[in-house]
Amino acid sequence: MVKKKKNLKKNILVTGGSGFIGSNITKYLIREKHNVMVFDNNSRGKSSRLKKIKNKIKFVKGDIRDKKKLLSINNKVDTVIHLAYVNGTKFFYKKPFEILDIAVNGLLNILEFCKKKKVKNFFLASSSEVYQNPLKIPTDENEMLKIPNIHNPRYSYGGGKIISELYGINFAKKFLKKFIIFRPHNVYGKDMGNEHVIPEFINRFKKLGNNKNFLIYGTGKEVRSFIHIDDFIHGFDKVFKKGKNQEIYNIGTNEKIKIAKLAMLIAKLLRKDIKFKKTKVLKGSPNMRCPNIKKIKKIGFKQHIRLKDGIKKILN
Ligand SMILES: NC(=O)c1ccc[n+]([C@@H]2O[C@H](COP(=O)([O-])OP(=O)(O)OC[C@H]3O[C@@H](n4cnc5c(N)ncnc54)[C@H](O)[C@@H]3O)[C@@H](O)[C@H]2O)c1
Repeated sequence: MVKKKKNLKKNILVTGGSGFIGSNITKYLIREKHNVMVFDNNSRGKSSRLKKIKNKIKFVKGDIRDKKKLLSINNKVDTVIHLAYVNGTKFFYKKPFEILDIAVNGLLNILEFCKKKKVKNFFLASSSEVYQNPLKIPTDENEMLKIPNIHNPRYSYGGGKIISELYGINFAKKFLKKFIIFRPHNVYGKDMGNEHVIPEFINRFKKLGNNKNFLIYGTGKEVRSFIHIDDFIHGFDKVFKKGKNQEIYNIGTNEKIKIAKLAMLIAKLLRKDIKFKKTKVLKGSPNMRCPNIKKIKKIGFKQHIRLKDGIKKILN
């Protein structure tokens, strides 16, 4: 007897789908032939990112805190990928309440949506910020999550992600079939928005003119590891297809670099001769961050784009 082929096409709602990562995930899902709907208020998202696939998706403009709007969606949805959130370090300090309001009320609303619509699968975007200054480097998914100082507004971002993970995991045990958390680690690439270190450096270098002094926040010795968006999508693909229920996956690379070296690398590619001026470290900024990626490697992830090549791709 010939076995009937299982229909793998999913009806997917991507919150935050016109953002940097969200638009790339949406394009990936379209390539994979799923039905996709995007919910975003375009506060940081841009419809231009989805221009090429605009006829293939349904876009709903709305605030994730607007429960009525969210619940008015009457399309069939079996999978939610929840990315809507305020990203960008400067906002952690500037508008901590808004970050937490979107984190908490946004999550409650989208989970209520899941309950009402009988959604089966949920993928939650968390962050490396949940580790803060980790005890172990490279940092695996079992690292202790922390809020080192409740009064420091920076932790609104990481704190909101910790609440989302904790509430989501326990909600899912009652109401969902599959709940997976992924923690991106410094994703970069074309059209990522200017609030991240790589585009910020590029933009400032371009404006330097003959001035050689280049300002770096911190000592320049802070270490980060970056992942190019194409590699990130390759990692997300593995999590989406092979990730297990109630599991957590770091998505990043082990290619560590000091922030001063990163600045030098970009300066060299732009043929700029610079002298560093250092300023105070932003309160709460971790000294070193690098994920342990053994778990995602086990399900097939491999880094393809080295940092230098990834930056060249942006500059081109
Ligand atoms: N980019 C990274 O390196 C990185 C690292 C760790 C975690 N993350 C997480 O991944 C997700 C996507 O990040 P990104 O880099 O694409 O950021 P982004 O700012 O480009 O995307 C976030 C999207 O959420 C939307 N949004 C914000 N508030 C909203 C609201 N109230 N209602 C509806 N939509 C709203 C924005 O308009 C934007 O399109 C976020 O959850 C972020 O915290 C990103």
